[in-house]
This record gives sequence, C-alpha cells and structure tokens, in this order.
Amino acid sequence: MGKEITDVELHKEELQSYFNGVGYERWAAIYGEHEVSAIRKTVRDGHALMMSQAENWLISHNLPKDARILDAGCGTGLFSIELAKKGFNIISVDIAEQMVEKAKIEAEKARVLDRIEFGVSDLESIQGSYDAIVCFDVLIHYPPKGFKTMCSKLASMSNGPFIFTYAPYNSFLAFKMWIGEFFPKNDRRMNLQMMKEPFVEESLALGGKKVIKHEKIHHGFYHTALVEAVPQ
Ligand SMILES: C[S@@+](CC[C@H](N)C(=O)[O-])C[C@H]1O[C@@H](n2cnc3c(N)ncnc32)[C@H](O)[C@@H]1O
Repeated sequence: MGKEITDVELHKEELQSYFNGVGYERWAAIYGEHEVSAIRKTVRDGHALMMSQAENWLISHNLPKDARILDAGCGTGLFSIELAKKGFNIISVDIAEQMVEKAKIEAEKARVLDRIEFGVSDLESIQGSYDAIVCFDVLIHYPPKGFKTMCSKLASMSNGPFIFTYAPYNSFLAFKMWIGEFFPKNDRRMNLQMMKEPFVEESLALGGKKVIKHEKIHHGFYHTALVEAVPQ
C-alpha cells in the first residue's frame, strides 16, 4: 500500500511546485530591481520596510559573527545577503531549487557566497539548533494546523530570537479575499492564510517562546505582521 499523503504534505508539494514555477517568476521580479507594476512595487517596498525593521531587531542582539543564524525559506536570499554583508555567516534553506540558485547568483554578485551555506530543503526536514532563526513571508502560506506545527518547531529550534512574519487577521481583508478582490487578478498570490494574534502566541509558547516585539506593516498591497519572539 502506498504512503498516506497528509494535508501538510500535499500543501508542501503545492508550495514547492508554485515556488519553482509561476511563484518564482512572480517573486523574483518583486524582489528584483527591474521595473514592475505599481501594485508589485508596493509589495516590493513593503517587503523592504519589513526586512529593514527585522534587520534592526536582529542586530540589536549583538550576536557574535560566528553565530548560527538560519534563514528559513530564504527565497532569493535578500535577507541572508544583507546579513552576510555585515560579516555574519548564515545557513539559508528553501524548498524551491530555483529560488536557491537565484540566491547563490546574487550572493556571488555581492561577494558573500562564502558566508552563506545554501541548502534546498523543506523546513519540515530541518533539524538542529541555532542562535537565531528568521522566517519571512513563508508562514503566511501555512493553514492553521501547519502554521502551529511549523511556528512552534522553528521557535523551539532557536536558542535566541525567532523573527518572522505572519498574515494578521483583518476582517476587511478577509472579506476582500472572500469576494476575490484582495489582490488584482494578474498579480494574485498563492493563498494567504490569516492568523489571529492569540493563536500565534499560543503556537510560539508551544516552542518555548514569548513575543517581545510585534509590528504590523501595511504598505499598499503588502500586509504583514513582523514578530520577534525570545525564550520564555
Ligand atoms: C514569499 S517567498 C519569501 C522569501 C524570503 N523569505 C523573503 O522574504 O525574501 C516564500 C518562500 O518560502 C519558500 N517555502 C515555502 N514553503 C516552504 C517549505 N515548506 N520549506 C522551505 N521553504 C518553503 C518558498 O519556496 C519561497 O521561496
């Protein structure tokens, strides 16, 4: 009898094929520097705002340069490369090979390839412990059950800060999503999964972490909540 496929595995396969195909084209363009539509530009700028805040939070921990920092779901490597430029060594993994290949090219251009250990892997198989973990705009795609499992797992794997984003629940946006007007048709992104704050806190507590910073970032079509959690 074949292996039973769980919802989480199906969801993972769906994400992997999305981020190796249409999703790669879409997000690599958003994260890149070429001209994009006005809508995508708001996402690019909102994402840049989020990254710069996250970087400030992480840097404030004064981690040693040889700290083990995991960038979980690194995409095209934007955050890893910024940290590597500051002298940190990073472990960066992503489920989509295309994303990792692009991240390597960008890291080489920035002359920091030697400071980043890239891996093509799903977060579900990652193990070990780290001095800090970041995970940006990845958990936004996880439905509640998977979110709880992954959020608590990553939280428990960091001995220091766990800095990540989630899609905060907002009744107005939830309604727009329900009627299909959350994102203009051509720019529609993979299903966004909105979470309520107490649920996020509960998931973190399962991984032994508590929230110390929480900031909502709304910029055009980019809506996210940036969180920093530390050991309880
Ligand atoms: C919207 S992109 C964000 C990329 C990057 N963190 C950033 O903010 O620039 C989401 C990334 O998560 C990755 N991803 C989604 N599910 C994953 C999983 N289960 N394991 C590892 N990576 C995953 C995708 O391949 C994609 O590169």
